Amino acid sequence: MANDTRAPGARASEAAAREAGAPGPGAGSGAAEEPRAQARVLVASGTGKTGRRVAARLAGARIGTRNPAGRDAVAFDWSRPESWGPALDGVEAAYLAYYPDITAPEAADALGAFARLAAARGVRRLVLLSGRGMEGAAAAERAVREAGTGWTVLRASWFAQNFSEEFLVHEVRAGEFTLPAVPGLVEPFVDAEDIADVAAAALTAPDGAHAGRVYELTGPRALSLEEAAARISAAAGREVRYRPSAPGAYAGLLAAQGLPPEVAGLLSELFSQVLDGRNAAPTGDVEAVLGRPAREFTAYARAAAAAGAWS
Ligand SMILES: NC(=O)c1ccc[n+]([C@@H]2O[C@H](COP(=O)([O-])OP(=O)(O)OC[C@H]3O[C@@H](n4cnc5c(N)ncnc54)[C@H](OP(=O)(O)O)[C@@H]3O)[C@@H](O)[C@H]2O)c1
Repeated sequence: MANDTRAPGARASEAAAREAGAPGPGAGSGAAEEPRAQARVLVASGTGKTGRRVAARLAGARIGTRNPAGRDAVAFDWSRPESWGPALDGVEAAYLAYYPDITAPEAADALGAFARLAAARGVRRLVLLSGRGMEGAAAAERAVREAGTGWTVLRASWFAQNFSEEFLVHEVRAGEFTLPAVPGLVEPFVDAEDIADVAAAALTAPDGAHAGRVYELTGPRALSLEEAAARISAAAGREVRYRPSAPGAYAGLLAAQGLPPEVAGLLSELFSQVLDGRNAAPTGDVEAVLGRPAREFTAYARAAAAAGAWS
């Protein structure tokens, strides 16, 4: 496209969307700044990093959790299909973040069965959180896309919040985090706030502008792990270092930190796959959907530090 000034990744992901049978580039439907009235939405894994942010943007959203408490919460467990029907009662759209990971061996079957149940119950839109460059996510994405509802797939790059709300937070607090060594690696960490804004837009766009689309969600620029550590250090007001782990040693390290061996193995395998440089180029998809640039890592780090994530 001669006059196309978008990032190469944005063009690539629009191509992925067309390949998936989607209409042309989605018009920005605007970020949700205030909770808004809309169709009833179920947020599955609604207390997680992205789910709770999606729910906060949608007035009256039903928060799926294994331990429901409060007016908006509903019992929901990916491993208990009997919880799915009641959670879907009266629901028109749902956000799906699979736990523990969309590449888990059972994920495609569970997501497919859930999506077919949703279709049978008249749910019109499913927004699936997937991962950028994750080969193991293809079957789960396909299962949701083929279930018979409208769908949008959000393929996110590494979350910035992995440093402040996930497995890395304790290491970051202690001043040093370890990840597998990949010479020259850069990653365009995406802010979970951006994922939630895009998900809210896809769940509520009145014209279904995001139906049948695959978005690749990244931050605005790629950073090395050393640069990420430097920005966290500056925001936190003390030094945080990145320590590369030797190839092959990472799963053992995670297990030694108390993760169940199967989860340690899954994460290690996943990281060696998605942190191999395949996801280095940022896309313009956050901006294309929201009409504003994706959030900078520095803004994320300052907000996380101000919220006490590393204190
Ligand atoms: N982290 C990344 O960098 C990254 C990048 C790309 C894609 N992803 C994808 O993101 C997805 C996870 O989304 P997330 O990070 O927003 O979630 P998350 O923070 O990992 O979600 C944790 C929530 O899952 C719930 N949960 C635990 N077991 C559950 C079960 N059996 N059934 C239902 N819910 C359960 C827990 O809520 P309750 O205790 O309240 O039930 C918990 O609050 C994964 O599929 C992963 O592949 C992650």
